[in-house]
Amino acid sequence: MTNQQDKLKKRAALKAVEKIKSGMVVGLGTGTTARHAIVAIAELIQKGTLKNILGIPTSNESYNLAKELGILLTDFDKNPYVDLTIDGADEVDDDLNLIKGGHGALLREKVVAQASAENIIIVDESKISKLLGEKHKVPVEVLQFASNLEKKYLESLGAMVTLRKDSSGANFVTDEGNYILDCDFGIIKSPDEVNSKINTRAGIVENGIFYQLATEVIVATESGSKILKK
Ligand code: A5P
Repeated sequence: MTNQQDKLKKRAALKAVEKIKSGMVVGLGTGTTARHAIVAIAELIQKGTLKNILGIPTSNESYNLAKELGILLTDFDKNPYVDLTIDGADEVDDDLNLIKGGHGALLREKVVAQASAENIIIVDESKISKLLGEKHKVPVEVLQFASNLEKKYLESLGAMVTLRKDSSGANFVTDEGNYILDCDFGIIKSPDEVNSKINTRAGIVENGIFYQLATEVIVATESGSKILKK
């Protein structure tokens, strides 16, 4: 990532954080863009600008960061309703559908997104496509036990499938102890259909197509931020 791209990610994050009001339960996304939002939220809490904020993190990484920065955290047992979630994305299409899971946190990210009244997605302009699949593969989280079986199933749907590795070359394991199959479906004309087909299998836990879950997308460009809404 270049410094310029990181600057844009921060710009989108700061714009999104303006939407948080005191007293909200806030979903904390995962990734390099969401990280800027978590840091900014912590700063506003410290200054006293935001009060009574409770965070619900979408990954262990975001949990640790938020905790370290002093954001009070909650869970769905205590707070089953999230007012607003701020998260990044790997790809955004014209209809505001998303591909997520580049950092392997798609499962909790989707759980939190489905529980949120508002989902603000923050991206730099490189993430925008006409259709999903132009730039990013679809990450699919599978049980370790079923990974070979589900790889074959995903290939039968027409995808080129790769088992994700971590930086040491070992199989990447998610926070929930599963594997990720990165699936190249080419251009995805019907994200709803592909999402449903992927999720019919017992060994597939969830996939990174977020169909109609974003309420707003903030796109940071060189000249400022654009807000995309349906
Ligand atoms: C995490 O699993 C993902 O869904 C991220 O939100 C996505 O990969 C975007 O990451 P960056 O903000 O690091 O580009």
